Amino acid sequence: QQGPAFDSNAMTLTRFVLHEQRKFKDATGDLTQLLNSIQTAIKATASAVRKAGIAKLHGIAGDVNVQGEEVKKLDVLSNELFINMLRSSYTTCLLVSEENENVIEVETQCQGKYIVCFDPLDGSSNIDCLVSIGSIFAIYRKKSEGAPTVQDALQPGNQLVAAGYALYGSATAIVLGLGTSVNGFTYDPAIGEFILTDPNMRVPEKGKIYSINEGYASDWDAGVFNYIAAKKDPTKGKPYGARYVGSMVADVHRTIKYGGIFIYPATKAAPNGKLRLLYECNPMAYLMILAGGLASNGKISILDIVPQKIHERSPIVLGSKGDVEEALSYMK
Ligand code: AHM
Ligand code: MG
Repeated sequence: QQGPAFDSNAMTLTRFVLHEQRKFKDATGDLTQLLNSIQTAIKATASAVRKAGIAKLHGIAGDVNVQGEEVKKLDVLSNELFINMLRSSYTTCLLVSEENENVIEVETQCQGKYIVCFDPLDGSSNIDCLVSIGSIFAIYRKKSEGAPTVQDALQPGNQLVAAGYALYGSATAIVLGLGTSVNGFTYDPAIGEFILTDPNMRVPEKGKIYSINEGYASDWDAGVFNYIAAKKDPTKGKPYGARYVGSMVADVHRTIKYGGIFIYPATKAAPNGKLRLLYECNPMAYLMILAGGLASNGKISILDIVPQKIHERSPIVLGSKGDVEEALSYMK
């Protein structure tokens, strides 16, 4: 049987968000507008990541050869894109970016009620060798009255309104957690839209993969060490496969799709681990938990940590419920 040549009724990300917002009587459309601005930043970042226009930069187009000249670094470019798009969306008042030491307050005449914490281009070590990288975002509502202050950004993850990431992998995808479900959208360059390809994503109850930087094994706590040792010990069950991209978005996306566990633990050198609570751990924990998995710092749910500083770090273990529970039993 031949299917239709062209889907004239595709569920795009914009359409999906509009539909979700309609469920709330008092919705203003601000969140839709905010997510649209993030989508634009992601499309432009994806284009830069895929090196669209590189021929121009390298002089094939003719007139000016800017080869050798400083081309804007991808992480700087994507940060500017996120900030500019969010600012001009009239829906945000405060931004926290991995790239900026301090919070960014949106100018008063452009302010809206949302706070966005984001990592515009995560996986910095993978940028230059063309391995998958991503963008991560977390959206909160401002709770206080008056001008926004840094305090407004220090909300625990259990207060999130929405969160998601973009993966610049073999295809570009956006995974969005909103309300009660996690949904995945794949970019179709032919029409310039993200299309719903993974409705209501659920992480498998248990996986067959562990994902951790094993180079630091000598620095781990005994709990982490013994858990990983068990995952490789054939007398304790079929050994797990090891996968570690070194881009959190790619490692978490695989974990949501295939199941298993991702760990960035505390080490002797870094007692709070490496990953940042506000724009790495929290949004990923929110998605994982919404998809039926778990996310913990080893003691409590990531989402229950009350942040003290915008760039604070947390150890993290997240993934399939069965795997995270097993890992935590070693860490106790
Ligand atoms: P970055 O913000 O400098 O890109 O660092 C974050 C990245 C994560 O994407 C990834 O999970 C982790 O760092 C990998 O770190 P390591 O190389 O120590 O294993
Ligand atoms: Mg990062």
